[in-house]
Amino acid sequence: MQTSTAARATGETLGAPSRAQVARTTGSASALNRVAGALACPACRVPLTRAADSFTCPSCARRFAIVDGVVDMHLEGQVAHWQVDAWAEHWTPRRSPLEHLLSFYRKSICARIVRDAFSRFMPASGVFVEAGSGTAETSSLIEKNGGERVLVAQDFVPAVLRMTHPVIDVCVSGDIFRMPFADNSLDGLWNVGVLEHYTHEEIDRALQEFRRVLRPGGRVLIFWPATSSVPQKILVAGAATVGVLTGRGAGHRFHPPEISQLHSNAEGHEILRRNGLRGVAVTGGIAGLIAFKTVVGEK
Ligand SMILES: C[S@@+](CC[C@H](N)C(=O)[O-])C[C@H]1O[C@@H](n2cnc3c(N)ncnc32)[C@H](O)[C@@H]1O
Ligand SMILES: [Zn+2]
Repeated sequence: MQTSTAARATGETLGAPSRAQVARTTGSASALNRVAGALACPACRVPLTRAADSFTCPSCARRFAIVDGVVDMHLEGQVAHWQVDAWAEHWTPRRSPLEHLLSFYRKSICARIVRDAFSRFMPASGVFVEAGSGTAETSSLIEKNGGERVLVAQDFVPAVLRMTHPVIDVCVSGDIFRMPFADNSLDGLWNVGVLEHYTHEEIDRALQEFRRVLRPGGRVLIFWPATSSVPQKILVAGAATVGVLTGRGAGHRFHPPEISQLHSNAEGHEILRRNGLRGVAVTGGIAGLIAFKTVVGEK
């Protein structure tokens, strides 16, 4: 098994998955069969050879094990982004009132926006990857059309993948800047609250990677907090208050800072254009105020 920084950072902190979670992640053989053809070595980008409990790259001979139902596609020796540790800390279960409130917000408000955008903009069938899934609670209401849509959660914190919502069919750990998928292999790709944590140079690299793995005509949906989004402001103020009360300072944050919130719909279109994606739509309105704007691109 690969021993990445992410695995070391999180393996002990989040505890063992529940029996229900193990049953779900290991019980999706037919979904894994559909996803297996899209998986590729993140270093060589070639399709993988499959065994019962692992995948192997025929080019570099790296082995990617399936551990507790999660396909571990981390690259051994790859320097992990500093955000891995910050996100691992964010997902450490505390059962605090704030954690329950955030979970409620994700499942009751964000998930409805994601469901509606998926129905409106995504193809009706195929393999879809949430790039930076966390617990995937924001994806819990996506309509799977009787199994026509197979949903894959990808995150660089392996432990959080063992806590993903049951809507997810297959879990893959790995970095969104080195997607473990073959060129032109995915029908769609989405993320919720991920890109705004990166610089614009990094966002461009991520979008070019998304473009590589999408099939022609495949869609990308980016749920992107805007500078006008209200909950983000409340969260920053709440974190600063907690920081002052606990002596951690007013700069305290519950997760990595949102350094690239979306300024406008036009900026969304421009980011898609400069990364070779056709701008299908950028929507805001009430959803933009209470959660995020939706940026829709097509390869
Ligand atoms: C705001 S959270 C997503 C929340 C998610 N939508 C949910 O419902 O729980 C952002 C997630 O992106 C992941 N992430 C950030 N950068 C990543 C990267 N480079 N590769 C893979 N995952 C990444 C983090 O680990 C974190 O779980
Ligand atoms: Zn390889």
